[in-house]
Amino acid sequence: MQRTEIKHLLKTEALSQDVLVKGWVRTFRNTQFIALNDGSTILNVQVVVDFQNTPEEILNKIKTGACLSVKGTLVPSTGAGQSVEVKATEIIILGEADPEAYPIQPKKHSLEFLRSHGHLRMRTNTFSAIFRVRHAMAFAIHQYFHERGYFYIHSPIITGSDAEGAGEMFRVTTLNLDNPPRTEEGKVDFSQDFFGKETNLTVSGQLQGEIAALALGKVYTFGPTFRAENSNTTRHLAEFWMIEPEVAFNEIEDNKNLAEDFLKYLVRYALENCADDIDFLDKRLAEEEKQKPQNDRRAMGLIETLRFCTENDFARISYTEAIQILQNSKQYKEKKFQYEVEWGKDLQSEHERFLVEKHFKKPVIVGDYPKDIKAFYMKLNPDGKTVAAMDVLFPGIGEIIGGSQREDSTEKLMKRMDEMHIPAHEMSWYLDLRRFGSAPHSGFGLGFERLMLFVTGMGNIRDVIGFPRAAKTIEF
Ligand code: 4AD
Ligand code: MG
Repeated sequence: MQRTEIKHLLKTEALSQDVLVKGWVRTFRNTQFIALNDGSTILNVQVVVDFQNTPEEILNKIKTGACLSVKGTLVPSTGAGQSVEVKATEIIILGEADPEAYPIQPKKHSLEFLRSHGHLRMRTNTFSAIFRVRHAMAFAIHQYFHERGYFYIHSPIITGSDAEGAGEMFRVTTLNLDNPPRTEEGKVDFSQDFFGKETNLTVSGQLQGEIAALALGKVYTFGPTFRAENSNTTRHLAEFWMIEPEVAFNEIEDNKNLAEDFLKYLVRYALENCADDIDFLDKRLAEEEKQKPQNDRRAMGLIETLRFCTENDFARISYTEAIQILQNSKQYKEKKFQYEVEWGKDLQSEHERFLVEKHFKKPVIVGDYPKDIKAFYMKLNPDGKTVAAMDVLFPGIGEIIGGSQREDSTEKLMKRMDEMHIPAHEMSWYLDLRRFGSAPHSGFGLGFERLMLFVTGMGNIRDVIGFPRAAKTIEF
């Protein structure tokens, strides 16, 4: 007999047919009602046990966490909250559950506790919902670009260039660290390393994306990126996934339009295709918010926030305007910001969140940042002081996207590299892209886990990736 997944089973009209379901016990009430879940949906199916005719030794093993195979009859349910249930005729225990030792009990566990049980946390409602949504978002990203004629480029994970300066890098080496070969000056001799030079894990696929965009027109990368940032925040990982579209002939305004349209598409996709999971996460968040003092609560619930994001235009301002707004704010005058607000200084998370959550009360795209706080490749504006950069700021998150129009003049690019002490010989191929058939082009990077934070309403980035890598965190 073929197994029916619970997701399909619950949509089947109960005509007293025989079914086979398999899954894990969530709860077992009154030696009669099993809530069984197989991961295909957040919803459980109720299995009704014929306890008078079921051997004692089987009944004793039906515990939270045990894995069962159940044959039975699908019948209309009289219980609340479900239309069908399975009247069991045969129950086989596939995997035991030691009731004393199984850490995931049918009660509320803290997220910290579940993080320390990373091998079991996906069996909870919250985490299974998150990872189904994560799958849907990855799929929607490919669908969005595919439908619009973009090509998916696999950018490399190991890089030989250390010029991008997006963050601290992780060294990749096969040298014997106890006794590495040395040059005459006593430095480590990387010419003897595997690739014959210093290599690291990539911080971004952008530079390779540019190579592809200036040949294929519209491309995107979607892969893991690595930053050895020792910042222990709820928004940073050492290994995270990034989506980086890069488009020939797009200027900065096209880039902003693409970012806004893309984000709205993804949020709409989640609302339309992950309704059961988003509904659950909405309720979860509402419960969590209740525990907080009134002043710290979110202005809107999860679903409300997601709808709001898809229905309203994002605000668009320049960095200079952002500084003015911040300096005119009550917060600033009452010295409530921890970090300085001054033209030329980078916006900190507290400033970004003020702009989004307090001032505009919607997503904001900030443009035209001072050149000195941005990467060397961003296109210099005619004022000579700012660059065609853009950051998209989201409520509860801060920066979700960072991007720019790229400098397409060889001369200006070389000047910037010189100012920022980037050796031209290391980036000759990047300069060649300008030398031979250069074109205006633009792109951005969306942090996949930051998107996941927004869509699920979770507060810690470690809870929206299966196996978080952060400083001193790599257990699972
Ligand atoms: O702003 P970033 O550093 O931009 C780049 O890497 C460009 N090369 C992108 C491009 O133009 N193609 O990073 C892009 C996004 C950020 O806005 C943020 O969402 C996410 O990546 N991000 C992180 N997410 C999790 N953990 C970290 N440590 C992150 N650092 C950046
Ligand atoms: Mg950035």
